[in-house]
Amino acid sequence: MGASSLPPKRSVITELPGPNSRALDARRAEAVAPGVSSVMPVYVARASGALLEDVDGNTLIDLGSGIAVVSVGHASPAVVEAVQAQVAEFSHTCFMVNPYPAYVEVCEALNALVPGDRPLRSALFNSGAEAVENAVKVARHATGRPAVVVFDHAYHGRTNLTMALTAKNMPYRDKFGPFAPEVYRVPVSYPYRDPVGMTGEEAAARSIELIERTVGADNVACVLIEPIQGEGGFVVPAPGFLPALAAWCRQRGVLFVADEIQTGFCRTGDWFACDHEGVVPDLVTTAKALAGGLPLAAVTGRADVMDRVHSGGLGGTYGGNPVACAAALAAIDTMKNEDLPAAARRIGDTVSSTLAALAADHPAVGDVRGRGAMMALELVRPGTTEPDPDAARRIAQACHQAGVVVLTCGSFGNVIRLLPPLVIDDALLAEGLAVLSDAVGAVLSETPL
Ligand SMILES: Cc1ncc(COP(=O)(O)O)c(C=O)c1O
Repeated sequence: MGASSLPPKRSVITELPGPNSRALDARRAEAVAPGVSSVMPVYVARASGALLEDVDGNTLIDLGSGIAVVSVGHASPAVVEAVQAQVAEFSHTCFMVNPYPAYVEVCEALNALVPGDRPLRSALFNSGAEAVENAVKVARHATGRPAVVVFDHAYHGRTNLTMALTAKNMPYRDKFGPFAPEVYRVPVSYPYRDPVGMTGEEAAARSIELIERTVGADNVACVLIEPIQGEGGFVVPAPGFLPALAAWCRQRGVLFVADEIQTGFCRTGDWFACDHEGVVPDLVTTAKALAGGLPLAAVTGRADVMDRVHSGGLGGTYGGNPVACAAALAAIDTMKNEDLPAAARRIGDTVSSTLAALAADHPAVGDVRGRGAMMALELVRPGTTEPDPDAARRIAQACHQAGVVVLTCGSFGNVIRLLPPLVIDDALLAEGLAVLSDAVGAVLSETPL
């Protein structure tokens, strides 16, 4: 039975997780390292569009997209066809041994899409963390400087360098040190938690002053930033913050690196979140939605910067695998053909009006924020800005029990985030949001669901 045979709606016929999921979870406990966790122990048998079918025959609405990956939908027909065709031709040669056209085509597509009208080059990798590591390698090599500046609430991955770049201790860093050196952290613009009225320019000046005073611009290879923070809580900086930082970088010979791994490829209503304020980064990291569910990541950057690295200095056995490249080309075509930036903006309008209504009804919803199809609500103790992670956890759990996948995030664990596939239809989105609204109402007013 193929994924296309999924019923076109949510259908919960057992408790969640159901008996087959529970049996698999018992096997998992014996076989899988517990350090790898899952948001929701409901095992998936197949998926299509914005729906997941589990091993008990329940059909769930997916408002998480496997953490912003399947923007073109689960089992997107174009991606499935491209992958099947490519895997039947060949699945691996290693681009560093014998190259193949799809790698070059993905780099051409990235160079055409990434912000900025100047010659660009790309290199392909397997995961987001690997792309970030390589962006730092390139920045250090090109500038001859060691320091990397990152921000409060940042998330960049789980390898040794990217743990060092990531802000939150639990679960990402705790007892995994020592960490890579020459990483310096400064405040980000977080309008909900910054002094009231602080502008983006003022927040940038605060960060820049700290960099100048504690690191020294001449020591800085790059400033690395998520234009909208992902795991850190969907923190959207105040307008003017990113342009002011990018301008300072330009003046001081520091490379501005945008980590668009979660925000990129239509998620925020533009192809890239940097497009919103016309910010042109020197280097951009992408992954997640790039290949419609296959593992692929990239660094795309100014040709004069990328060209500094000697031959053989970048790469890896699987980086730019041909099957992943075929998937990326199909995913990018789908994003263009179906105008997924516009779809993300439409989803954003619907989601933000639902979340605004929840904020109006519940003082515990402290903030509603995000852009396009990357929206979140931050939960606090009513009348304060004190984070309430327990409320977020219980709301997410209530959604899960009702068959709707939502994710939490945030440095304080008190943010519910929504990242639906951009191909979700209006009825499914409305149903998913109705379940979320009921869960918020039930948890915040303490009435049983
Ligand atoms: C902004 C950002 N950077 C880097 C990463 C790491 O990507 P990966 O999990 O593919 O290594 C993530 C993953 O969530 C991310 O959101």
